[in-house]
Amino acid sequence: MAADPEVGKILRPVEGAAFPPGEISIIATAPGGKLALDGQAVPAEQPFPDVLLAKTTPSAGIHKLELIWETGRRQLRFFVGDHPPAEFKPFRQHPPSALECTQCHGLSRKGRFRFTGGCFGCHQQETFLKTHHHPSHVLEQCGQCHNAHGSTEKAHLILPSEKACGLCHSVPELFKRQMFSPQRRGGAEAGL
Ligand code: HEC
Ligand code: HEC
Ligand code: HEC
Ligand code: HEC
Repeated sequence: MAADPEVGKILRPVEGAAFPPGEISIIATAPGGKLALDGQAVPAEQPFPDVLLAKTTPSAGIHKLELIWETGRRQLRFFVGDHPPAEFKPFRQHPPSALECTQCHGLSRKGRFRFTGGCFGCHQQETFLKTHHHPSHVLEQCGQCHNAHGSTEKAHLILPSEKACGLCHSVPELFKRQMFSPQRRGGAEAGL
């Protein structure tokens, strides 16, 4: 079963995450999705349609988390314990304090779960404008580069920076098309 990247996603934790012993929080989405940890079903709340939220306290060691839905599945591995093997990196949850999902999410008029913003309640827009240099239509989609639920990478990037940039810039045609799109000038003028 091939995973359709648009349909099922595990947002937290991420592949290769390492946690100290204790409770971990899982966020995933898939239509009619179910979670399994090492093959055992994990009970989850559904704070929004097709969105799963679960808490679990796994034993020390390497674990396999699966998200299973009718037409596909995704899985990742994470580690719990004091001495993670080299392939696991410490996971930093974001925001560090417990926060309602509704700080950043809501439902569209059609009832679709979406990102509604809320980053600048805690982060400074002035600093942001100095550290970011993309046109505004790219920048407003923070989730294209950052995992707002936590990450193992610097600056909560979804991938190590080289690869994170490659998500959009590795395909030469795409890069070219995007680089010369009419939006570029607008972004430059806006100072982004
Ligand atoms: C600090 C802001 C923030 C908080 C708090 C937050 N999220 Fe998110 N979430 C995001 C961002 C940013 C994205 C990426 C949005 C995008 O790329 O369209 C996202 C994406 C998602 C997605 C994937 C949506 C999709 O279809 O791609 C799910 C599911 C999700 N969040 C669930 C949750 C749940 C459940 C909570 C509460 C436990 C939560 N989020 C808390 C910012 C946040
Ligand atoms: C095109 C990719 C990209 C997008 C989109 C993006 N960021 Fe970033 N962001 C980065 C990178 C790369 C860094 C790390 C910069 C560094 O430290 O080298 C970063 C760093 C940050 C930082 C830490 C540095 C600082 O400015 O304080 C914050 C906070 C941040 N981003 C917030 C956001 C928010 C909020 C959004 C959406 C409104 C967003 N980012 C959208 C790539 C992006
Ligand atoms: C409730 C407050 C809060 C909200 C809302 C919030 N953040 Fe943060 N964020 C923090 C705190 C506190 C830190 C510093 C601790 C850390 O690095 O996790 C941080 C750190 C970060 C960093 C890493 C900075 C670095 O230098 O490593 C990035 C990137 C970031 N946030 C992006 C975002 C994005 C994108 C959003 C919106 C989707 C967002 N934040 C919303 C509180 C918040
Ligand atoms: C979500 C997709 C996306 C990601 C991820 C992304 N970029 Fe871009 N980048 C764009 C687009 C789109 C443009 C050009 C926008 C336009 O011209 O309309 C661009 C333009 C650029 C430019 C040219 C800016 C200029 O005005 O000349 C540079 C340099 C760049 N990106 C570097 C990076 C780096 C470094 C990263 C990783 C931190 C990164 N990008 C990640 C989409 C992305």
